[in-house]
Amino acid sequence: MTRETRIEVADLICPLFVHAEAGNEAITSMPGVLRRSVPDLVRECREVFDLGIPAVAIFPVIAPEKKDARGRQALAPDNLLFRALGEVKAALPGLVLIADVALDPYTLHGHDGVLTADGREVENDATVEILCQLALKEAEAGADIVAPSDMMDGRVGAIRSALDAAHLTKTCILAYAAKFASAYYGPFRDAVGSRQAQPVCKATYQLDPGNLREALREVELDAREGADMVMVKPAGPYLDVIRAVREQTKLPLVAYQVSGEYAQIHAAAQAGWLDYDRCREESLLGIKRAGADLILTYFAREVAEKSKG
Ligand code: PBG
Repeated sequence: MTRETRIEVADLICPLFVHAEAGNEAITSMPGVLRRSVPDLVRECREVFDLGIPAVAIFPVIAPEKKDARGRQALAPDNLLFRALGEVKAALPGLVLIADVALDPYTLHGHDGVLTADGREVENDATVEILCQLALKEAEAGADIVAPSDMMDGRVGAIRSALDAAHLTKTCILAYAAKFASAYYGPFRDAVGSRQAQPVCKATYQLDPGNLREALREVELDAREGADMVMVKPAGPYLDVIRAVREQTKLPLVAYQVSGEYAQIHAAAQAGWLDYDRCREESLLGIKRAGADLILTYFAREVAEKSKG
């Protein structure tokens, strides 16, 4: 009766992976999460929507032979993501569809953008131009929300102008505003096949895990450039950032409980060291209590099922 914070199904966003194969495939480092065929993605979306989850974020797994150094497949008419968005939107017009805007599913090197000639850095402005085109194509394919997850400078404003110029005025921008250069993304990179022999270092564009003030500055910039919602990512290790962003902005605040946060609870529970259900609940309550309005979590479906009893 006196509990101050509750997780509601309507707070949850379900991340889903889609590949071009006919069947589904397990992801070893993310128990229970699958790379799904397009038809199975549509089926899963229907089920989570029926459970009361308002939104899904769809991530494409691009076949290695379609990747190159410049991520050209991102803008190709046969990009799997566009087909997936279109089919889900046609089947479930009321489900909110979120699409990442970044090149990492499409580049051989796994970076979120194109690289400079010496291959040592991401080329910010050239990347932003490509991202604007990708955002437009995602919106045209059926995305309600485009979510730049790349952390290039100036991309939110550029995407906003591009959407406006194309009269896509109803498309929202969810900015991955405070996205840290985190080791907790490891299992996600397994899922989309962007893991490299040498872990990719994204520290020139993602935030330093030690920096709170810089995170607040990124949020401020993205808000000023026209973001409709902002995100903090990862969530669990950055609860102070979530709280500080909550106090700084009036925009809806989304927290991403990332793949590594999900994997560590599973791994410890598998070893018999942690109580799976209670740690799942507690991890989400902490994120909500810190100030998040919405949580992207791989636990979304399970939480929704439990809440139905
Ligand atoms: C890519 C992207 C990443 C995640 C979401 N979009 C990985 C990265 O930046 O390397 C990670 C999500 C997760 O770990 O669950 N732009």
